[in-house]
Amino acid sequence: MNTLKGRDLLSLADLSAEEMRDLLDLAAQMKAGRTNPRCEKVLGLLFSKASTRTRVSFSVAMYQLGGQVIDLNPNVTQVSRGEPLVDTARVLDRYLDVAAIRTFLQADLETFASYAQIPVINALSDWEHPCQALADLLTMQECFGQLPGLTLTYVGDGNNVAHSLMLGCALTGVNIRVATPPKFEPDAKLLEQAKALAGGRSEVTVTHDPVEAARGSHALYTDVWASMGQESEADDRGPIFQPYQLNDDLLAKADSSAIVLHCLPAHRGEEITDEAIEGSQSRVWDQAENRMHAQKALLARVLGAV
Ligand code: CP
Ligand code: NVA
Repeated sequence: MNTLKGRDLLSLADLSAEEMRDLLDLAAQMKAGRTNPRCEKVLGLLFSKASTRTRVSFSVAMYQLGGQVIDLNPNVTQVSRGEPLVDTARVLDRYLDVAAIRTFLQADLETFASYAQIPVINALSDWEHPCQALADLLTMQECFGQLPGLTLTYVGDGNNVAHSLMLGCALTGVNIRVATPPKFEPDAKLLEQAKALAGGRSEVTVTHDPVEAARGSHALYTDVWASMGQESEADDRGPIFQPYQLNDDLLAKADSSAIVLHCLPAHRGEEITDEAIEGSQSRVWDQAENRMHAQKALLARVLGAV
């Protein structure tokens, strides 16, 4: 039974472990061409921040399902002229079948969703990036066959990408170790939420020691040191984050089968070296491709196409 029809995905914690497994399996089936759901529906993309992968992968996923996409951003709507979000949500709800929103405040996503009946998908907020974590876990599942028992190490900023990875790993039985500089840890409440979701099946660890975190791990993952909206902090953050760079020395501490992941866009020479992202253990291009497969499965489920 499809339990996701009509549902929002504002946080990965909106999914049960079973729903998460189902989405990853459906994405793998669709990628292999074994299932080909169709739906003539309309997706609206409401993006207040830049995007390459999310915008294009959502669009192509929707086209491949037989649907249409309207690329909305605040500059081309009345939002930039001050139309309230709650009014925009109620009106777009009458036209669209599903909305993917990229914004700053998680609270804005929640407000939009509470005023719209259609499924609302978080396409990145300052709090979470759930669609990214779906693709990341799909990539690990492809590389290692199954997820439970694997260990993923995330080094860098305890940001939106780290938050969704923590929840996603907890839901799928993957041990996650997050290594950040002091004062840049993931949110304490989210850590508790991830531990509760893991329910003792896997470990959720936050540390300041990147080397210990990387030891024996199956995937090393990093993201930019200054996220969108934090550009003014980039210079100050550089030296603080340098010990958390994903490079060949750190990779040597991981399991010999370990893969290198990055959500992209990457800043070579900062959070990741050219050698690590271009090296034989890198899976970042498969990971980027998997954004499309994971989101196509998600769209198919929330639209009730399969
Ligand atoms: N990883 C990711 O979300 O990329 P974009 O910002 O290009 O969408
Ligand atoms: N943490 C980054 C992710 C970009 C895909 C940001 O929010 O800018």
